[in-house]
Amino acid sequence: MASILDKHQILEKNATLLLVGSLLVVSIGGIVEIAPLFYLQNTIEKVEGMRPYTPLELAGRNVYIREGCYLCHSQMIRPFRDEVERYGHYSLAAESMYDHPFQWGSKRTGPDLARVGGRYSNEWHVQHLSDPRAVVPESIMPSYAFLKEREVTVKDVGMDLKANVDVGVPYSDDMIASAEADMKMQADPNADTTALLARYPKAKVGDFDGDPSKLTEMDALVAYLQMLGTLVDFSTYDDATGYR
Ligand code: HEC
Repeated sequence: MASILDKHQILEKNATLLLVGSLLVVSIGGIVEIAPLFYLQNTIEKVEGMRPYTPLELAGRNVYIREGCYLCHSQMIRPFRDEVERYGHYSLAAESMYDHPFQWGSKRTGPDLARVGGRYSNEWHVQHLSDPRAVVPESIMPSYAFLKEREVTVKDVGMDLKANVDVGVPYSDDMIASAEADMKMQADPNADTTALLARYPKAKVGDFDGDPSKLTEMDALVAYLQMLGTLVDFSTYDDATGYR
């Protein structure tokens, strides 16, 4: 025992040797942690139900990013009891797998929105976004009424899907070719949406902003909000924490 300590003294008394020794130990630890990641195709566990955004949802997501909604809202439910009880099942990595960039956020001036889809009606969202204080008197959220007047530019949406393909989102050629039509169809209450729903299961369809005559950024944003957190069916999900 004493002899090991004696040998260790050599390291302790020589700063350079100690530095080299520490670096050696730390790099072994680092390699053990990092090297396996280079051999994995994907570090995200596959989850049933996840699909790329519909063209309209994607346009809504662009509005969400442009308007800086992420500065006040997170989309990331942490696995703590208080969050799970308030917002629902904690977020899974796979739920953000098609988000480029992700919208986890780092500030909650308003509530988390990861599972806001289906919680309110379209009318509620339109009213809330137009005039937050009309539905929540104490709200400090800004008004976004102008979104009802701004028409969505449909012609670029195929390009947007293509850009997402470049970063790994699996949009098919068929999806890209039908992007413009799909976008109009999702917000048209009279459209036959069979093909759209085959391409994008569980997509919410219908007129979102209450004005079927034009396709507005309000339609797109509400379509996006209404799908958030609705793709994975958590009623059948094997929840290891037993929170719910
Ligand atoms: C200055 C901060 C701020 C910004 C920016 C902001 N919000 Fe909010 N938001 C709030 C606050 C505070 C609340 C809670 C009070 C309320 O419901 O109005 C809220 C509530 C909400 C709710 C209701 C959530 C729930 O579970 O009840 C939705 C949906 C929402 N915001 C969407 C948006 C969208 C979409 C944008 C961007 C277009 C946005 N917010 C921008 C502060 C903000």
